[in-house]
Amino acid sequence: MKAADTVAIGSPVYWHNMSGAVRNLIDRFYGPVQAGALKGKKFVFLFQSAAPEAWMMEKAE
Ligand SMILES: Cc1cc2nc3c(=O)[nH]c(=O)nc-3n(C[C@H](O)[C@H](O)[C@H](O)COP(=O)(O)O)c2cc1C
Repeated sequence: MKAADTVAIGSPVYWHNMSGAVRNLIDRFYGPVQAGALKGKKFVFLFQSAAPEAWMMEKAE
């Protein structure tokens, strides 16, 4: 991720949220990834969902 220009992370939607595995990945940035280390990169977050609801997409944004 540090070497990339664009970081894309994807997750299925489980109970109106990202999956536990993706959540763990992001949580574990805390510590190893210093504040600002990914600054300036394009970031894309992709959800795959069976029945997306408008409020969920707004919260995700
Ligand atoms: C435990 C579980 C919870 C899910 N919760 C939601 C949900 O809250 N909203 C939704 O739109 N889809 C939900 N889904 C559907 C998944 O997002 C969907 O299965 C996943 O994106 C993979 O797509 P596929 O089943 O077509 O392979 C859930 C699926 C599972 C297994």
